[in-house]
Amino acid sequence: MVEKVFLCRNSELKESAMRQVAVAGIDASLVVYKVKGKVYATDALCTHGKVALREGDLEGTTIYCPLHGGGFDVCTGKAVSPPCTVPLKTYSTVVEGDDIFGLLE
Ligand code: FES
Repeated sequence: MVEKVFLCRNSELKESAMRQVAVAGIDASLVVYKVKGKVYATDALCTHGKVALREGDLEGTTIYCPLHGGGFDVCTGKAVSPPCTVPLKTYSTVVEGDDIFGLLE
């Protein structure tokens, strides 16, 4: 079953920026990214050491973890830079008007 949950306002998310959002109904937060006008969402914690990725650097579609510098492609979740090897969970997003929703499975 897919659950559609509100993440944030599109107008509040600047280009090449990210923000962590608490998701109602689940015991977790996601990070929402905007790259070249497209919106992506991933789990909030690095798969290497459970560090909050919102403190990292977003360069293009790669989010670099603030602790050891590992990287993930926010489009696919693929680990693209060591020491990260385990993919980051990604979520489909939908933009409706000014609202960004994540689709949780
Ligand atoms: Fe993120 Fe190590 S905790 S790269």
